Amino acid sequence: MSYQNLLIADANNVRVLTINRPDQLNALNRATIDELDRALTEAEADKNVRVLIITGSGAKAFVAGADIKEFANFSIPEGKSLAADGHTKLFTHVERMNKPVIAAVNGFALGGGLELAMSCHLRVASDNARMGLPEVSLGVIPGYGGTQRLAWLVGKGKAMEMIFTAGMIKADEALQWGLVNHVVPQDQLLAKCNELAATIVKNSPTALAAAIRAVNAGYEPGADGLQREIEEFGKCFGTADFKEGTGAFMEKRKPVFTGA
Ligand code: COA
Repeated sequence: MSYQNLLIADANNVRVLTINRPDQLNALNRATIDELDRALTEAEADKNVRVLIITGSGAKAFVAGADIKEFANFSIPEGKSLAADGHTKLFTHVERMNKPVIAAVNGFALGGGLELAMSCHLRVASDNARMGLPEVSLGVIPGYGGTQRLAWLVGKGKAMEMIFTAGMIKADEALQWGLVNHVVPQDQLLAKCNELAATIVKNSPTALAAAIRAVNAGYEPGADGLQREIEEFGKCFGTADFKEGTGAFMEKRKPVFTGA
């Protein structure tokens, strides 16, 4: 499939999706969100892709937010549908992917950019990254999940402060807050993400998908995360991966998982 605003590269069962609008600091317009939706669906269905890395093009920005120029003249219904569409097509879609998604935060991650990074399962930032939710400085609030996911990751107090001040924090502070998993020099960012991915790729795809569903369930309104864990744990016993993993342990060899 061809894309205008995305680059796609595969190696060693890892797909790197690069948002490619560097002259606009990779701002998320609706066309880019539609393309990401398609690319995620494609990656979900591709058994050769076991981990996804999402990053931004150029040395300056991961994603500098939703495209302000595109939504500046929107009406109330258009604003609401912008947020709702974004949730479905991109942010919830990433969060519910059936394989681990790592955000390689290679610079500014602001507004929708930080919201995209927070929707990913893991975040690795370059040391020049700057993160923030500046929406209230534009007269709006975070609309792509930021009011919820930031509080989940760093706690309500820090989330409120970041949203109220519209300020940016540096990568080392984000690491201290638990907002990112690792910080590395910019020229080592993709290598670090690939190193993490290579460790994950050795594990069972069916178990990884089940783990994502179980962890997410704890954050879904009305869902019982512990009950979901029990269900997902039980279902693992019916998979070929489980037979392979336990069999390999007993035969003292490395497992070869197929994701079945
Ligand atoms: N939406 C649309 N365009 C954006 C954008 C966004 N969120 N962020 C950056 N751009 C565009 C700029 O308009 C500029 O385009 P132009 O050359 O056609 O005018 C280009 O990207 C480069 O950005 P610029 O502002 O010149 O770079 P800078 O180094 O001076 O500043 C930022 C970098 C990230 C601090 C600044 O671009 C910024 O504040 N962006 C908006 C962040 C934001 O509020 N995001 C939340 C949106 S809800």
